[in-house]
Amino acid sequence: MNVEIVDDYQALSATVAQRIIKTVKEKPDALICIAGGDTPLGVFSALVDASRKGDVDLTQAAFVGLDEWLGLSKADKGSCREMVWGHFFDHLTLREEQICFFDGRTAAPAEECRRVDRFISDRGGISLVVLGIGMNGHIGFNEPGAATDTYCHIVDLDAVTQSVSAKYFDQPRQVKQGITLGMKTILEANSVILMASGEKKAAIVAQTVREPATPAIPATLLKSHPRLQVVVDKPAASRL
Ligand code: PGA
Repeated sequence: MNVEIVDDYQALSATVAQRIIKTVKEKPDALICIAGGDTPLGVFSALVDASRKGDVDLTQAAFVGLDEWLGLSKADKGSCREMVWGHFFDHLTLREEQICFFDGRTAAPAEECRRVDRFISDRGGISLVVLGIGMNGHIGFNEPGAATDTYCHIVDLDAVTQSVSAKYFDQPRQVKQGITLGMKTILEANSVILMASGEKKAAIVAQTVREPATPAIPATLLKSHPRLQVVVDKPAASRL
């Protein structure tokens, strides 16, 4: 696993944003998968800037969400939808049909999974998946022990994910399940970027780099991908 180490969060965000821009320049109708969470926020702001300056044209591109807390909608502060719209889509002028995100409040989770699977297959697959990494090595909500042969599916959240979730919410919430793109969806993407920032991610980044591929650390399963780019800032690289 080759790791590109950049100085800080700003450089990390700029590097990943440039990679997305390059992907869209090469394939204007690229399907990009974006994650919620804290790590990609700087990427969103760099992309919004680039779009405003006319450095990238996102009008033909499409976006699919990586995951969502089951039971939460865009109206719930800290949901993936709320974060991605608030920091990204609300600042761009995209058409509704360009975006497909899980509805965490769906009454029919299995159908919601198939809807997102279809959005991806109708566009010929994902061009680029942009991932953060969980404190437990999860990728999206592919939690430790994740199966490798899954497309979109419902997941029982790991205890670490449940406790880390509190940082996103403005009120106490019991989130026990998530809905996520599966490892197979991610591994079938043309290219994958894994990004990590901050000293708190240093231990899991080091484990991911050192350990052989194992479902116990889902991020290690990315090692089999032929076009994987891992970009981390210096604090996240401090245990390598
Ligand atoms: P974070 O989450 O970007 O908020 O650290 C990453 C993840 O859990 O995948």
